Amino acid sequence: MMKGINIDTKVRLNNGVEMPIFGLGTYQARRGKETKEAVLAALEAGYRLVDTAAMYENEGDVGEAVRKSSIPREEIFVTTKLWNSDHGYDRTLAAFEESRQKLGLSYVDLYLIHWPVEGLRNESWKALEKLLKEGKCRGIGVSNYMTWHLEELFRNSSTVPAVNQVEFSPYLYQKNLLEFCRKHDIQLEAYSPLTKGHKLNDPRLDDIGSKYSKSPAQILIRWALQKEVIVIPKSSRRDRILENADVFDFVISGKDMKVLDSFNQDLRTSWDPSTAP
Ligand SMILES: NC(=O)c1ccc[n+]([C@@H]2O[C@H](COP(=O)([O-])OP(=O)(O)OC[C@H]3O[C@@H](n4cnc5c(N)ncnc54)[C@H](OP(=O)(O)O)[C@@H]3O)[C@@H](O)[C@H]2O)c1
Repeated sequence: MMKGINIDTKVRLNNGVEMPIFGLGTYQARRGKETKEAVLAALEAGYRLVDTAAMYENEGDVGEAVRKSSIPREEIFVTTKLWNSDHGYDRTLAAFEESRQKLGLSYVDLYLIHWPVEGLRNESWKALEKLLKEGKCRGIGVSNYMTWHLEELFRNSSTVPAVNQVEFSPYLYQKNLLEFCRKHDIQLEAYSPLTKGHKLNDPRLDDIGSKYSKSPAQILIRWALQKEVIVIPKSSRRDRILENADVFDFVISGKDMKVLDSFNQDLRTSWDPSTAP
């Protein structure tokens, strides 16, 4: 993935589908104008991956922007997710259909289980397999799965998730999980790559950034890309949407990558699946 990557670079998932390595997150992008304008600004800036979820309550706006943009639907990769209260076989099928209708799209590119809900997740996975088989989504995957959640899934199904979307940044460098996913041909996708903003004022990021004339946010995004992880920074601001995409004209040196790796402090900015049974 690394050689000469750009905003159009895609990775081939384990089912043959190609997914952009870089995209826009939309958690906490407010419903209505804010989400629509952010998605349109991102598409205009060259983003081709948009990440939403039923829980974000902005699928309607994401879908409207995707449909309104001048970019053909098949060139845009849309991810949405099954919320925790919708687990179980039948409920999953109904929740997917509700998401699809809100998006106003005939298919979803990637449908993820948002969280490994205990007791029900394997039934939900069976529903995702059905959706995949029927072509209602082009890929299925999981989010917030630790290695033991994945191992349990392997015991119950022969469909390996295409993607595992987890929190991932130098401050939460989940090296074992990354290696586990790589070994099983599951593409890791980094959420909260900017630590939701919490660490953007770390002076050590400024030090590294100044070497490359890049901002702390750009260093964090580039670090994830150089780990061969798909990365989806969120911003609702056009200037930052542009800034976050301006990460393809430099390479962080091996030495600086090691320095960034050493920032790990197991920082989780939202929920913690490492305690989920
Ligand atoms: N699967 C899951 O459980 C899960 C959990 C969390 C997130 N996600 C997904 O991953 C996406 C990204 O994660 P996230 O939204 O949690 O956090 P993030 O991308 O790490 O950070 C977003 C925050 O950083 C600010 N920001 C963005 N670019 C900036 C820049 N260049 N300079 C300074 N500040 C900047 C944004 O504010 P402004 O918008 O005001 O610019 C926002 O407050 C989400 O939007 C969502 O799609 C998934």
